[in-house]
Amino acid sequence: MAVTRPPAPHRRRAATRTVALALAATIAVGAAAVAIPAAQAATTLKDLATAAGKDIGFALDPNRLSESAYKSIADSEFNLVVAENAMKWDATEPSQNSFSYGSGDQVASYAASTGKELYGHTLVWHSQMPPWTNNLSGTALESAMKNHVTNVATHFKGKVSSWDVVNEAFGENGERRTDSPLQQKIGDGYIETAFRTARAADPNAKLCINDYNTDAINSKSTAIYNLVKDFKSRGVPIDCVGFQSHLIIGQVPSTMQQNLQRFADLGVDVRITELDIRMTTPADSTKLATQAADYKKMFQICLAVSRCQGVTIWGITDKYSWVPGVFSGQGAALVWDDSYTKKPAYNGIVSAFGDLPTPTVTPTPTVTPTVTPTPTVTPTVTPTPTATPTTQPGGCQVSYVVNQWNTGFTANVTVKNTSSTAINGWTLTFSFPSGQTVTQAWSSLTTQSGSAVTVKNAAWNGSIPAGGNQQFGFNGSHTGTNTAPSSFSLNGTACSTA
Ligand code: G3I
Repeated sequence: MAVTRPPAPHRRRAATRTVALALAATIAVGAAAVAIPAAQAATTLKDLATAAGKDIGFALDPNRLSESAYKSIADSEFNLVVAENAMKWDATEPSQNSFSYGSGDQVASYAASTGKELYGHTLVWHSQMPPWTNNLSGTALESAMKNHVTNVATHFKGKVSSWDVVNEAFGENGERRTDSPLQQKIGDGYIETAFRTARAADPNAKLCINDYNTDAINSKSTAIYNLVKDFKSRGVPIDCVGFQSHLIIGQVPSTMQQNLQRFADLGVDVRITELDIRMTTPADSTKLATQAADYKKMFQICLAVSRCQGVTIWGITDKYSWVPGVFSGQGAALVWDDSYTKKPAYNGIVSAFGDLPTPTVTPTPTVTPTVTPTPTVTPTVTPTPTATPTTQPGGCQVSYVVNQWNTGFTANVTVKNTSSTAINGWTLTFSFPSGQTVTQAWSSLTTQSGSAVTVKNAAWNGSIPAGGNQQFGFNGSHTGTNTAPSSFSLNGTACSTA
């Protein structure tokens, strides 16, 4: 299944901010020196990522939000948040069929109140399974897994944009991992079952598979590549692949960009999901400079792959990183140190955005290049005469259902073919009446130019049989008024509204 998101240059979020890059200064990055445009140095990572049309996320422990330094960095530097632990199986279903969403809801509320995208981690993982799952038979475990996925995905429906449906399913040799009770008791089919169950529970969330040591082209990443290929060929829902990227300084894989691109070429989104880059402690200026260069490389890789949705860093401060507890004598893997001081890695990331091609990040005073309709976009918005006779049989009806909060909203849209002829390939157009912007779309290719929104079907949902319907959705932002569009046209024909 191909769930598409507008390529970075067409994403509205990229279009709404401009970053002045006129003057350049040089800021020391440990032992190295990285050129930082002066005006850019005053901005935040969130500003830079947003301007580039990418997500920049962090793993949140909601218990830390009471620390002002933690909250201040969380609030200002990131546009996406993921729960470090709060949405895992042991946290959300501590006793069988008894769900506990306190911490997960805290993360969801934090995302909504700060206007950040909420990423879901993780529905099915062999680790952090609650103890009550231990003694279940294969059949009982499979139904428990389905029940868990259904309940959690339903609870966070409309709030979570994407889910890590299955986490860390493969071993280093490319075989399914043998120490997973899910693998042992349910067998190979558990991944497909989890994805199908998640799609049924929340048809609008993007569904991802996530793993570590898959950053390079290797046996493990190739196993996931083959799984994605197989799922797509059989119509099993899968939309995205996460590359955790728990790295060691100096070891950014040389094949990483190529690896991400080969997945993107299969028609799935990709994302760097849990980035941290550890070193042997104590840190020194040489190691920190290497780390800064590595962070820069990682962001450059994501910037170079248009289907790379963004980079999520696995925490804020070294003080709370999982690394020292697991890798003895190693740590200092994050971007802020134990005292919340920015490390050279911060400027490494800034410089990755600073090295973007000029048209993407250099604004002109009056025109934002990424939203100016280009000759290549315009023809797709305007129905062409050739499409009209075969794909415009007539009647259509649109249902536009909104779930909104302060300045954000999710829209779920159903397009019904009320004619007696099947539609093969559709483009829905409408206008926002009150300055809304689409920030993320799914089950469609959605672009926006000014108030005009153009939604084209994804590869898998282009056919609408007579009397049938298709759905897509998007997250958006608004300024306090969120009036629904008053009219919709399907392939150039006006639709009624439901
Ligand atoms: O909540 C309990 C607390 O009640 C108890 O007192 C304390 C005693 O150790 O443990 C607390 O739970 C810990 C939990 O984090 C919350 O802090 C667990 O022991 C600890 O094992 C757990 O570690 C998490 C780890 O996943 C579990 O495997 C890390 O914080 C988290 O960063 C890490 O994240 C994983 C991703 O989910 C998947 N990819 C790898 C990544 C790093 O391991």
